[in-house]
Amino acid sequence: MLREVFESGRPLTYVRSSEEQRVGSVLREVGLRLLPSTPVPVWTWSLTEGMWSDDEGSIAGTHDPRAALDFIAAHEQAGIFHLKDFHEPLRGSPEIRRRFRDLYESCLDRQKFIVISSPVRAIPEELERSIMFVDLRSPDRIELAALLRDEVQKLPAAGARDDASDEVLLQMAGALSGLTLDEARYALRRALATGLRLGPESMPALLEEKRLLVNRSGFIEYIADVTKLGEIGGLEYLKKWLLERRKLFQMRESLSNDIVPKGILMMGIPGCGKSLSVKAIASCFELPLYRIDMIEIFSGRHGKPEGVFVQACRMMEDLAPAVLWFDEIEMGVTATESSGEQGRIFAFFLTWMQEKTRGLFVAATANRIDLLPAEMIRKGRFDEVFFVDLPLDDERIEIFKIHLLRRGVEAARFNLDELTQFTIGWSGAEIEQCVVSAMTKARLEDRELTADDLIGVAARLVPLSRTMREQIDHISRWAFERAVRASPRRVV
Ligand SMILES: Nc1ncnc2c1ncn2[C@@H]1O[C@H](COP(=O)(O)OP(=O)(O)OP(=O)(O)O)[C@@H](O)[C@H]1O
Ligand SMILES: [Mg+2]
Repeated sequence: MLREVFESGRPLTYVRSSEEQRVGSVLREVGLRLLPSTPVPVWTWSLTEGMWSDDEGSIAGTHDPRAALDFIAAHEQAGIFHLKDFHEPLRGSPEIRRRFRDLYESCLDRQKFIVISSPVRAIPEELERSIMFVDLRSPDRIELAALLRDEVQKLPAAGARDDASDEVLLQMAGALSGLTLDEARYALRRALATGLRLGPESMPALLEEKRLLVNRSGFIEYIADVTKLGEIGGLEYLKKWLLERRKLFQMRESLSNDIVPKGILMMGIPGCGKSLSVKAIASCFELPLYRIDMIEIFSGRHGKPEGVFVQACRMMEDLAPAVLWFDEIEMGVTATESSGEQGRIFAFFLTWMQEKTRGLFVAATANRIDLLPAEMIRKGRFDEVFFVDLPLDDERIEIFKIHLLRRGVEAARFNLDELTQFTIGWSGAEIEQCVVSAMTKARLEDRELTADDLIGVAARLVPLSRTMREQIDHISRWAFERAVRASPRRVV
């Protein structure tokens, strides 16, 4: 791929990859074969090491980005110049950008090629036209299968079968997709170290290793608990929508892009089942669920929020197919003091929603919905914006049944209808809490739960919606104009 870019004569390339070493070795390989007569040497630059090459060692005085560009400009022979993380100097200085643009001319037709590598795509606008962008994705299944075969031959002592068929290897490679080669090797060795043999039986261990590696990022979390659609009380419209879209999502490769479900935004009153619904989407679509923690991203612990957010989105594309959950999305898209950064994140998110791989279904949830910019909803590229309201009378009964059943209590024993009048304005979370308190009481008195226990607790509980009436009314009014209700409309 890179070789084709060079052969087409384009002197400036930007490679997005988090694997600098892999970029380096690809460039070396391209250098060997680029010209028929002699190999083209590869020069590498980083802010810490300056410019160096295998043959000529380090060049003094080239740590400064400007000096590195001067070195390239003055260089007479053919060469490939690999500039690591050069997007930062480009972004920071108009002078460097100018200088870099000038290099286009001085490299053109001289067999000099400049390659910037960076984990994020950050090409300054004025360079967009002269730079070729290449996405060096994580290794594909074929590359991973080759790695597996390699490892199998090296590790007979680990009990690995070296007769593993291509099909098994490809299947395992699929389990490792999304990891870099180093990570995949690491995951494989760890899985085999537990005494497993390479084959279908080691798949769960591989998946577990992958999960650990993803969690290590600190801002993406693999969510293991499974919720079935049936465990959600009410929200009939949302459920119906999901069941319809599931089929489209599963047929995604054969559909035109605008029909493939891309994602939903859910907002609503706390404790009414947003998080629960996201988990149910994953199980309904039969996909793994990953949660992006916006608070972590904005903590600054992992670097600049903008870069981390972009990185998280890219990492997720490699983990597709999956459901991707942005919890408290408003954190990332609302304007505060540092609104410049957030504006850019928002702009990135809008484009990304449009161009992301089909295998990712986005479920975004928001609590402080009034903080969401209007474009998020209008142009947010969501298929639907749902409002999860306080449950209606019969929805509350359904939620009671679900939580009783989950704790092994046969709900048919009770006449639950009486509870409707005691639970007006209650959230699902409060219903669950009521069931738990009533059961605890009965257990302490060493007897079976009765309907009176439930009613006793219910009569005393003051729901959040009463203490926070104004906020809740505000949320409902706001959502009324902008979102689709996740359950049938309340009759007033
Ligand atoms: N519709 C529902 N059906 C069944 N259980 C529910 C429902 N709504 C809420 N619950 C119960 O309340 C708990 C809390 O709900 P959940 O975490 O989904 O709320 P949320 O809308 O995400 O709230 P928050 O805004 O606080 O994040 C759930 O784990 C579940 O046990
Ligand atoms: Mg939640």
